[in-house]
Parts: sequence; structure tokens; C-alpha cells
Amino acid sequence: MTAARILSPRRDGEAAKTPQLVISGLGVTYATRGGSVKALDGVDLTIAEGEFVTVLGPSGCGKSTLLKIVSGLLAPSAGTVTVGGRTVQGPQAEVGIVFQQATLLPWRTVLENVLVPIRALGKPAEAYRDKAMDLLRLVGLESFADNYPNELSGGMQQRVGIARGLMNDPQLLLMDEPFSALDAMTRERMAAELQTIWMETQKAVLFITHSIQEAITLADRIVVLSERPGRVVEVLPVDLPRPRLADVVSSPRYSELYAHLRDYFRVDGKLTNSKAAAA
Ligand SMILES: Nc1ncnc2c1ncn2[C@@H]1O[C@H](COP(=O)(O)OP(=O)(O)OP(=O)(O)O)[C@@H](O)[C@H]1O
Ligand SMILES: [Mg+2]
Repeated sequence: MTAARILSPRRDGEAAKTPQLVISGLGVTYATRGGSVKALDGVDLTIAEGEFVTVLGPSGCGKSTLLKIVSGLLAPSAGTVTVGGRTVQGPQAEVGIVFQQATLLPWRTVLENVLVPIRALGKPAEAYRDKAMDLLRLVGLESFADNYPNELSGGMQQRVGIARGLMNDPQLLLMDEPFSALDAMTRERMAAELQTIWMETQKAVLFITHSIQEAITLADRIVVLSERPGRVVEVLPVDLPRPRLADVVSSPRYSELYAHLRDYFRVDGKLTNSKAAAA
């Protein structure tokens, strides 16, 4: 069973130009007891249908805040966000989310966990059982459908999270550092698997990461955010051919892109003032 049979198929030929996500002039300020905290400022970002965009930025610059806004869990303080041409006003079925931790319900089986978004919409879960099984097959876990999350490794749990994120066949998949809790080897393998799933389903993806390697390996375009308040300091198209396999890191173009992006970050993981200020 290929993903194209389970999920709406990818578009072949020319990359689709219709924007799936449009963020314009986005500002977010949190009110806290200690005063207000500006997390994002004047963020503009468009993601086309089927496009894979990664967001790189230092800790605390507002990346998770950006995802909360796009998913409708949080309202912007300024600016607008549209998904599929409609203004985001709350959580919606067209948007799937994969979190940093798999956040599975420990008392539910793997299959039941994949069905959670269906239940959340008040739909009858039984009618979606076959589709959930197909998604588990897609992420290589069909034989674990009746297991409980604590019987799975971290990487397997994260794959359940991806299947769950795809359950509503969303046009936009949001991923917040989904592999950061995994060991380096599993992380590399998961990135490769995600690329395969994406190439089959061609969802628009907004993927947040701290890893320059992950950003380059996965992205059509990389968005670099400044330190808080997060602003877009560069949007970098990645022109490496796909599929990008493990050996992509030894290509000269990869090294160039890596060095360019690495320049933004100091050894402690923060953006350099010079380049961020010049951008
Ligand atoms: N609910 C909240 N209330 C108040 N301030 C918040 C809230 N959530 C986040 N912030 C603040 O907003 C800023 C951005 O937070 P956010 O979680 O979006 O950063 P991030 O880029 O995802 O960081 P990390 O890379 O560490 O995950 C931080 O300074 C944080 O303290
Ligand atoms: Mg975060």
C-alpha cells in the first residue's frame, strides 16, 4: 500500500504554486506577570502546496510560538495567518501536528492513538480503522497496532506521532523538532523516512529544527529566524537533488549551504549579531 492510496496524492510535474500557508506581518506578544514578552515580530512566510519548509532559529526565538499560531492554538497579536486560503481562527482538520515528544496516551493502544484526531472531531473511529492501519503500515508499525506506547522505542513512538499527524489527511503538516529527543542514528533514519513519506504524499510541511543538517536534508527552503523576538533573517532555497540520501552530506553544495547557515550561529547556538543584523 503506497501513501498515495491512503492520502490525497502528490502532484506530479511542476511544483504547485498555490500557497497553502500565508503568514503576513505576524507579531506575538505574551502577557506575563513580569511584563510583556515579544516572541515574534513582523514575520512573513508563505508555503506553497506540497512544499517542505524548515525553520532554523536559536532557542527561545519563537519557533514553537509560530507553530501554535499556525495550528490555531494561539491567536496572533498582530498580522494574519491563512491556511488553504482561510484565516486561521482555531484548530482545524486541514492541519496536522507532530510534537517534539510523541505525547501518546499511555493507556491506549498504538492504533487507538492514531485514531485520536478522528475522535477529537467527533467522527466514528471504527469507520477509520482501516485508514489508521494503512498509516501504521506507511510508518512501518502495522504489527504493533495492538501494543501500548511503553512497549515501543522512542523512534517507534515518534513514528506513531507522525501517523497520528497524518490521520485527518491534512494539507499542512506542522512538526516541532519531532526528532530532537532521539539518538543521532535514529534521528538520521527518521529524517530519511520522513522524506520518503513526504515524497509520496507531498503534504506542505512546516518543520522546526535546531539541526542545520536536518534543515538542509529535508527542506525545499530554509527560513532562518533571529533571536527573540523572532524575525525572518533569511530564506534560503535548497537546490540539492532528491531523494537526499545519507551521502548528501559529502556533496560540495551541502558543505557550502552548511557553512553559510553555520555562520548565523555562535558556538553556544545563538545567532551572530553581525550577520543577523546585516540581513
Ligand atoms: N505561554 C507563554 N507565556 C509567556 N511567555 C511565553 C509563553 N510561551 C513562550 N513564551 C516565551 O516566548 C519566547 C518564545 O518561546 P518559544 O517556545 O516559541 O521558543 P522556541 O523558539 O520554540 O524555543 P526552543 O527552541 O527552546 O523550543 C520565549 O522567550 C518564551 O519564554
Ligand atoms: Mg520550541
